[in-house]
Order: sequence, then structure tokens, then C-alpha cells
Amino acid sequence: MYSTLQRLNHYGSISTTFVMVLLGLISLASFFTLPAVEPGTVSVNDLIVRRGRVNRWGAAPEELASLRFDVRADVTPLLNSYNTKQLFLYLTAAYADDVSGDTHEVVLWDRIITRSDIKDFRTTGDAEARKNRSPRPRIRMDNVKNKYAWRNPSRSFKNIHDANITLSYHLMPYVGLVTSGVAATAQGKVEIPDLATK
Ligand SMILES: *[C@@H]1O[C@H](CO)[C@@H](O)[C@H](O)[C@H]1NC(C)=O
Repeated sequence: MYSTLQRLNHYGSISTTFVMVLLGLISLASFFTLPAVEPGTVSVNDLIVRRGRVNRWGAAPEELASLRFDVRADVTPLLNSYNTKQLFLYLTAAYADDVSGDTHEVVLWDRIITRSDIKDFRTTGDAEARKNRSPRPRIRMDNVKNKYAWRNPSRSFKNIHDANITLSYHLMPYVGLVTSGVAATAQGKVEIPDLATK
């Protein structure tokens, strides 16, 4: 004889199991149907190294690099997936210190985009691009400044001559694993100029 409570418990665990299996299948299915992204391009403009202070009380002066960049990429295949919750886009600079050999990777800019945000990205293009809007919206970003300070642990860029600049993404699904990839890269290494004296 089962009590009502036991029976409820039983149905509860069956439905929980069912939901778990369903979620598992969804995450497996979206893993195997993961859309491919053809990496786009990042172009770096106005990269400059200056002496300055990060925006923090009591910060000592140090060398800071700042830049502006353009991006042409197409991440619509990722946003079109029914299982896509949001996309985390971030721009990194990876570089090595020529003397110590230490490698560093810093995040210079980031943004979360959701499916509905794609309109935003279309309107950041110029008027010409808006007029010739293609059916597959693309990311066009022009002259975007780095959002985070680019500083080096040694406080100087003296021994750093170039960097790899990459726009990467983390795809956050409603269910399943976060997957990562490259949305756009700079063509070759980006040269880091000497300290600007002025
Ligand atoms: C920069 O990119 C090149 C080519 O992909 C790679 O060989 C190199 O290790 C990268 N450098 C750093 C510091 O990540």
C-alpha cells in the first residue's frame, strides 16, 4: 500500500528524471549541431603607449597602452540557435615580454549580446551598410576604444614589441555547456609602438 505522499514522491522523481533526460538530449543535440563561425577581422587603429595612471586612487604613474579598433564579423549562426541564451564577446591582447619571456593575456573590451541585440550591432554600421542590409546581420564596429586599461605587470612596454589581438566568444546556452571560439582576429601581429613622449 502506497500512501498519497509516497505516490506523489514517485511521480515527482519520474518527472524530474524525465526533465533531466530531456535537458541532456537538448544539450547533446545543440553540442553536435554547434554552428560554425568563420572568424572575421579586427583592425587596430591609433595604438599608442603613454605614461598615465589607471583610474584608481593612489595609482602610481605607469605606461598604459590605448587603442581603437574596428571589427567585421558574423556571429549570426551562433545567435540563431534556439539554445543560445547569450554571447559574451571579448577582445584580448596576447603578448610576450622579449626579455623575461613571460606571456600575458589581457582583456581590453567586452560585451554581452543577446539575440535581440543583433539590431544594435546592425545600426552601429554606417548609413551605407544600413541601406544595403544583408539578410544575415553582421557585426560592424568602428573605432571602438578599449574599455579596460591595458597595463603591463612590469609597468612598462619597453620589452614588448607586438601582440596578437583576438575577438573571442563564449556561447552561453540555456542548457548545456559553454562553448568558446574565435569571432575575429587581427591579421598577423599588431606592432606596439615606443612610448610616446609629449
Ligand atoms: C600569437 O599568434 C601566433 C600565431 O597564431 C602564435 O604562434 C603565438 O604564440 C601567439 N603569441 C602569443 C604571445 O600568444
